[in-house]
Amino acid sequence: MKKTRLHLGLFLVIVLFSYGCKNQPVSISSVYEKKADSIIRLMTLDEKIGQMSLFTSDMSSTGPTMRDDYVDLIKQGKVGAVFNAFTVDFVRDLQKIAVEETRLHIPLIFGFDVIHGHRTIFPIPLGQAATWDTAAIEKAERVAAVEASAEGLNWTFAPMVDLARDPRWGRVMEGAGEDTWLGELIAAARVRGFQGTLLSDNNTILGCVKHFAAYGAPQGGRDYHVVDMSERSLYEWYLPVYKAAVDAGVASIMTSFNEIAGVPSTSNKWLLTDLLRDDWKFNGFIVTDYSSINELIPHGVAADLEEAAKLSANAGVDMDMQGSAFLNCLSNLVKSGDVSEKTIDEAVKRILVAKYRLGLFDDPYKYCSKEREEKEIMNPEHRAFAREVAAKSCVLLKNENKTLPIPKSVKTIAIIGPLADSKADMLGFWSGAGQAEKCVTLVEGIRSRTAGTVNLLTAKGCNVDDDDVSGINQAVSVARRSDYVILALGENRMMSGEAASRTDISLPGIQMQLAEAIIKTGKPVAVVLFNGRPLTIPELDYMAPAILETWFGGTEAGNGIADVLFGDLNPSGKLTMTFPLNMGQVPLFYNSKNTGRPINPENPYEKFKSNYLDSPNTPLYPFGYGLSYTTFSYSDVKLNKESFESNDQIIASVDVTNTGDRDGEEIVQLYVHDLVGEVTRPVKELKGFRKVLIKKGEKVSVTFSIHPADLSYYHQDMSFTYDPGNFELFIGANSRDTKKTEFSIR
Ligand code: NOJ
Repeated sequence: MKKTRLHLGLFLVIVLFSYGCKNQPVSISSVYEKKADSIIRLMTLDEKIGQMSLFTSDMSSTGPTMRDDYVDLIKQGKVGAVFNAFTVDFVRDLQKIAVEETRLHIPLIFGFDVIHGHRTIFPIPLGQAATWDTAAIEKAERVAAVEASAEGLNWTFAPMVDLARDPRWGRVMEGAGEDTWLGELIAAARVRGFQGTLLSDNNTILGCVKHFAAYGAPQGGRDYHVVDMSERSLYEWYLPVYKAAVDAGVASIMTSFNEIAGVPSTSNKWLLTDLLRDDWKFNGFIVTDYSSINELIPHGVAADLEEAAKLSANAGVDMDMQGSAFLNCLSNLVKSGDVSEKTIDEAVKRILVAKYRLGLFDDPYKYCSKEREEKEIMNPEHRAFAREVAAKSCVLLKNENKTLPIPKSVKTIAIIGPLADSKADMLGFWSGAGQAEKCVTLVEGIRSRTAGTVNLLTAKGCNVDDDDVSGINQAVSVARRSDYVILALGENRMMSGEAASRTDISLPGIQMQLAEAIIKTGKPVAVVLFNGRPLTIPELDYMAPAILETWFGGTEAGNGIADVLFGDLNPSGKLTMTFPLNMGQVPLFYNSKNTGRPINPENPYEKFKSNYLDSPNTPLYPFGYGLSYTTFSYSDVKLNKESFESNDQIIASVDVTNTGDRDGEEIVQLYVHDLVGEVTRPVKELKGFRKVLIKKGEKVSVTFSIHPADLSYYHQDMSFTYDPGNFELFIGANSRDTKKTEFSIR
């Protein structure tokens, strides 16, 4: 009886303190902090440590370990958040345990990797980035948040914003590519999409920018490997993208598995406290990656779990994902004085504030509405938008003799290849709660687009990744019976993503052999590529008349690609990651430095120049590259002046004419080159782009306005400023094909 009264009393305190938190803007976070403080005063040390612990449910697994006692732990008040648990019923059951069976009734946060859609799956993030359409990307994340929140979730482990220049690394599929400036815009768009304008709405979720920091630069492109780079590179190229997410108000941040300059991120006080909290003023909470506190032991900076827990708590980590390190060790560490209770209180406060921001104290079941679940999950509008984005993310890499779009005269189409009819592969890696059976394959998309008006033949030809040649002859005979071939090649979905680095990024298995045999039939062939990273495909580029890069397009992949293949939508996507010619060139990215011995393009193999004996320096397809079914011509670049003062606007414009026979969208790109810097500068840096629709035969004037301060970078003393002097300015269709002019700043 006495016990029950205590429960009720505490519950009332919490309810009273929670009253009025609904629909409050973020600026009232100090009110939330006060409320959190009042709860913290009621908490035992163990209950506090419980809030700092995150465990996976047994619904699915995204890492090497699982605790089968997580439900008991929730009952004991030893869990602050759960991940990999969704659907209204499941979440409600777990939440009920937390709010009804624990002493303080504190609700749980529910997290999940909602990376490119929840149930309705959108193209992989690298594909979405190829749209260069931040409004579409933001809307895709909005749809993802609406669906995730309708299934009980209120926290996504996204956006992943790790800048990546090495296509061997499998997780390049999850980011926006190799450019910092574009990456910043996309990171902010993603945060806005997930979090909306008010986190207390029932269809918005907490974002979690990851992986802090520089996880995208592992040595040799091998996942989880060491990162070592200059302070300047870190500040100039890698950090700004996380900062953009922080500035956009992201609610949480995840530490990375890697070390930077000898210190693992999860125990890196400089990174988590000095930089993130003190300099960047980040006020959300910091969660580790999957058991990355435990990994401090094999990293070699902690002798045992207790030391690992101490290092990370003192570095600034608020929540331990799956490692039980905080749960098992923090209590002793506080008792011994190795971690102060103030540190614990601060961490708990940040987590409770997030719960207030979500409105969980008002209604712990606010994400558990059966009606919303039924209405929102895979609703037709979401699917229609996913189809649009799947089409928009396609990048036309080659199109000789106008092989694409498929001519109307074609009567029989052969759809050949191991990825032509594979539902699961359309999802790509990190496909949330996406279901393979809901996906539209290329064969299905073409079948529904042609609706019986064209005769369709299909053949697999070979598997994605083995050496079984037994299907090639049959595929060739199918090709011979058709008058047009679509060849679906690439990687399977598990060949990119986490723990999926490759040393050879060419077409796997015997797919090139299949391609050769099919192309030799002399039929018109359009290759449709599915892959999660840039591939080295010079032979394919040489032989195939047309190549369309489609990434992994998600639930509506087949329909979206069919829209492009038949010309209902003119492709406009452009690469945000360089496609190298061969693996030996990697890392290869557009914004590299000139070196003291740059090559002479007229004589690229000249001795004593910065080149290779056996390969050009240039990529197969450069950053920013992508064709259209129409053609565009660029005029010379015009500037408002030739010489600028520090407070002037540099206004650059170009006329772009659609010289082809259909309307099309073009992504017009602006780059600069600081000719003489205090520190060496890249040969080109993206500083602007416009995506413009130009009707056939029409000319559009595209204008950019940049400020001298936009040309700032970290100088020798790490001051962030620009150099007066001469600059080159380029405008063009990609980072290689540009028109150039020059200007100076006094
Ligand atoms: C490990 C991954 O690195 C991270 O991105 C993901 O969010 C967690 N696992 C949880 O699934």
